[in-house]
This record gives sequence, C-alpha cells and structure tokens, in this order.
Amino acid sequence: MQTRTPAESYTSMTELVLPNDTNYFGNLMGGRLMYWMDIAAAIAAQRHCNAPVVTASVDNISFENPIKLGNTVHIEAKVTRAFNTSMEIHLKVWGEDFTQQYKYKSNEAYYTFVALDPNRKARPVPQLVPETDEEKKLFEGALRRRQVRLILGGKMNPNDAAELKALFIKE
Ligand SMILES: CC(C)(COP(=O)(O)OP(=O)(O)OC[C@H]1O[C@@H](n2cnc3c(N)ncnc32)[C@H](O)[C@@H]1OP(=O)(O)O)[C@@H](O)C(=O)NCCC(=O)NCCS
Repeated sequence: MQTRTPAESYTSMTELVLPNDTNYFGNLMGGRLMYWMDIAAAIAAQRHCNAPVVTASVDNISFENPIKLGNTVHIEAKVTRAFNTSMEIHLKVWGEDFTQQYKYKSNEAYYTFVALDPNRKARPVPQLVPETDEEKKLFEGALRRRQVRLILGGKMNPNDAAELKALFIKE
C-alpha cells in the first residue's frame, strides 16, 4: 500500500460563532466546537485513507481560552500516525477577533479514526511518513498516546504497553 505524508491529509476549517452556538456567557459551547473538530478530523482521516471512517475515540480536551460570539474559529487537522486500521489526528484550534485584529489559541486535541470497508469492518490504512521535525515528534509520541487510550478503553493490558512503561521504568 502507498505511503502518505501529513501534508496530504492537512485540513483547515473556518467557522463564525453565531448566537445559537453560544452559552449564557456568550462563549462558544464546548460541544459545538467538538462537533466541528470531529468533522475536520474526519476529513483529514478520509484524505489519508480514501475510505469512510468512524470516530473511535477522543482524548481529553482542555479549553484554554473561550471563543466569543462574533469571533471566528480556525481548526487545523493532520494525521500524525497510521497504525493498522486506525489513524491518530492532531487538531489545533484558534479564535480570531477580527475587530481587534488578533488571534488566540483555544485548544489542541487528538482524535482517533478507524477506516471501514463496505461491510463496515475495519480495513487497513496507508502508513504515514512524517517530514518536518514537528511531524516526526508527533509521530513518535503517537505510539505512547495510543497505548494510554487503549488501556483506558479496556483494549490493552498495561503490561503490553512497552513504550509507555519505558517512560517510567528503567530496566
Ligand atoms: C471503532 C470501532 C470500528 C472499533 O471496532 P472493533 O471491533 O473494536 O475493532 P478492533 O478491535 O479490530 O479495532 C480496530 C481498530 O480500532 C482501534 N480502536 C478500538 N478501540 C479504540 C479506542 N477506544 N481508542 C482508539 N482506538 C481504538 C484498534 O486499536 C484498532 O486499530 P488498529 O487496527 O490500527 O490496531 C468500533 O468500536 C465502532 O464502530 N465504534 C463506533 C464508532 C462510531 O459510531 N463513532 C461515532 C461516535 S458515536
């Protein structure tokens, strides 16, 4: 199977925060932001594997700065690593106040998607070859992040998480 680069999956999405997207305080609701992030991440995953995908898991998300009513939301998504049938996607989110002309970071997150065949069975995806230093760092860390999420999801025995254990236990 052909390999792919992170640049080939790069996805950029822009949304305007309207009254129906906000809470009592005039801030963008977390659920609406996660919905937009899910769509951006799904597009990046589909660009990588050229197949339909489903969200398998979302890592913890912390909202560093609220995005205000009338501001613009920018979401960037890229595949950081492909495993067998799953892909990890890294997302970065900024708000933009165009009246004051400044951009501010809102949050970052990792989503995991699985590619499905027409029978809805998980299917293999192309491997990812990172190019830039940042992409190489994200690629390397993806193995440990995958082990954390599979342990938390009850899909991996912690004793089998060799790379994760190596961070804490020096033999
Ligand atoms: C995600 C899903 C396809 C996994 O199916 P499964 O039968 O558990 O399949 P497998 O155990 O063979 O795992 C398939 C891949 O999913 C990955 N996976 C399974 N659970 C995961 C989790 N909680 N987090 C991250 N990856 C996970 C596995 O690691 C495996 O990846 P790999 O092939 O790259 O090693 C299945 O659970 C599903 O369809 N879930 C619902 C998806 C959905 O509807 N999402 C929308 C939100 S409700």
